[in-house]
Order: sequence, then C-alpha cells, then structure tokens
Amino acid sequence: MPRYRRFSNTSVSEKILDSMFLIAMAIGYVFAMLHLYFTHQGLDGKAGLSVEDVRIGYYGKHEQTRLGTAIQGPMSGNFPSDTSRQVVIDWIEQGAKKESFETDIKPILDENCIVCHSPASGLGLPPLTSYDKVKALTVSDTGASIQSLVRVSHIHMFGIAFLLFFVGRIFILCELPVVLKRVLVAIPFITMITDIFGWYLTKVFPGFAVIVVIAGALMGVSFMLQIAISLLQMWFWKPQQNTDNDM
Ligand code: HEC
Repeated sequence: MPRYRRFSNTSVSEKILDSMFLIAMAIGYVFAMLHLYFTHQGLDGKAGLSVEDVRIGYYGKHEQTRLGTAIQGPMSGNFPSDTSRQVVIDWIEQGAKKESFETDIKPILDENCIVCHSPASGLGLPPLTSYDKVKALTVSDTGASIQSLVRVSHIHMFGIAFLLFFVGRIFILCELPVVLKRVLVAIPFITMITDIFGWYLTKVFPGFAVIVVIAGALMGVSFMLQIAISLLQMWFWKPQQNTDNDM
C-alpha cells in the first residue's frame, strides 16, 4: 500500500508557507464577494444582493431602455407636462423612428433637456442633441454582452482553476475519510464550471439565475471549507497513528 504525505510529516516551514497562502486566499475571497456585491446589488432598485439582481445583470430588463427608465424615473420632472413626456414614451414604444424624431421629439429635448445633456454643458451626461445619440439610449437592456461574458469566463476559468488547484493540493495533505476528501476536492471545480455556464444560460433563460447563485455559493463554501480544515489540521489536530492512508 503506498503511503502518501500528510501534514504530520510536513516541515514547519512548508506549513507556514501553506498557511500564509491559505490566509491570503481567504482574504482574497472576501474581497471577491465584496466586489460581487458592489457590482450587482441594487440593479432591481432594492438595496442588497438578490437573485433578481443576478437575473438583471445577465439577462437584462428587456422591457426597459435607458431613456425610458430615466424619463419615467429621475428625469420625469424635467418635462413641462405629462403630455410631452408621454409623447417621448410613445415614440420609444413605436420603435424610436427617425421621421418623427425631427418633428415631435427634438423640439421637446431642445427645450427641456439639452441644457444639461449636451457636450457644451460639460456635465458628461449622455448627449440628447441628435437622432443617433438619442436612438442609442432606446435599445433595450439585454444584460451582459456575450463579449464581456467570454472575457470574464476565460479570466475566471484560468485564474480560479489555479487558486483551486493550489488550495486543493494543500488540502489533500489532511486526514479525512477518503470519500469525503475525494468529493471535497472536486466540488469547487464542478461548481465553478457550472457557475460560468450558468451565466450564459441566464442570459438566454432568466430562470437560471438561481443556478448561478447556488453554484457560486457552493463553490465559496467548499473553497472556504478546504482552507479552514487545512489550517486546523496543520496546526491544531494531531492524527492518530496508522490512519487510513489510501487517499
Ligand atoms: C438640470 C440638468 C438636467 C436636465 C435639464 C435633464 N437632465 Fe437628464 N440627467 C441629468 C443628470 C445629472 C443625470 C445623471 C444622474 C441621474 O441619473 O439622476 C441625468 C440622467 C439622464 C439619463 C440617464 C442616462 C444614463 O446614463 O442612463 C437620461 C436618459 C436623461 N437624463 C434624459 C433626460 C431627458 C429626456 C431630459 C429632458 C426632459 C433630461 N434628461 C433633462 C441632468 C439633467
């Protein structure tokens, strides 16, 4: 029967190195969660992170456009009357056509909006000075673009696989029931891959946002468990002699 290396026959210097790495990983993970929170929370208009925020992040709000959202929300007070506001809303719903822009929409915008929404104002707001500029704000919000998902996927897949691999290499020096250990080293990878594919599924089918959340949470829990068990066994737990070494 082969004998595998365990924490009990690892040098103190190596355990210090391993511990420093694991502690840095645990802190890094907390920052990753904070980053996730700040980029996704509140998309649904409510404070805090929810499945709905994840759904909007990937799938978008197909019924909403940036212009429509703004004029029914924070910008509604800039219209002289509800009638003029309704003219703009109807124009968006009818496909934001160029012909009616010049006659119906441009006068309203020139009168009420471009004081702020023009390059001349220096406020850095989206300009509402020409058809093309306004049209750009009337495309519906379809969530994350495939291009950005592909970019984040490849960074995630390469970057996180590395971290999981090194944490997993340290973790296998623990003494645990063999089945439990085999499952625990695989789960972070399986959930990471599920999470990433979940983004694409959510972009098309918003219901999959739940999968993204569950897979992401499971990955975090299994990753943190590996770190915690490794640190505990390394420094505080002395295994009995002749434990099952077939792992
Ligand atoms: C007094 C200056 C001011 C006027 C007038 C004004 N806006 Fe705005 N607008 C802002 C500011 C500041 C923001 C960004 C902050 C915010 O979203 O509340 C903004 C945001 C917007 C956005 C959202 C842009 C984005 O990034 O999604 C739209 C669309 C918009 N305004 C349309 C209009 C329309 C249409 C009018 C005219 C009826 C108008 N605004 C009049 C100051 C102004």
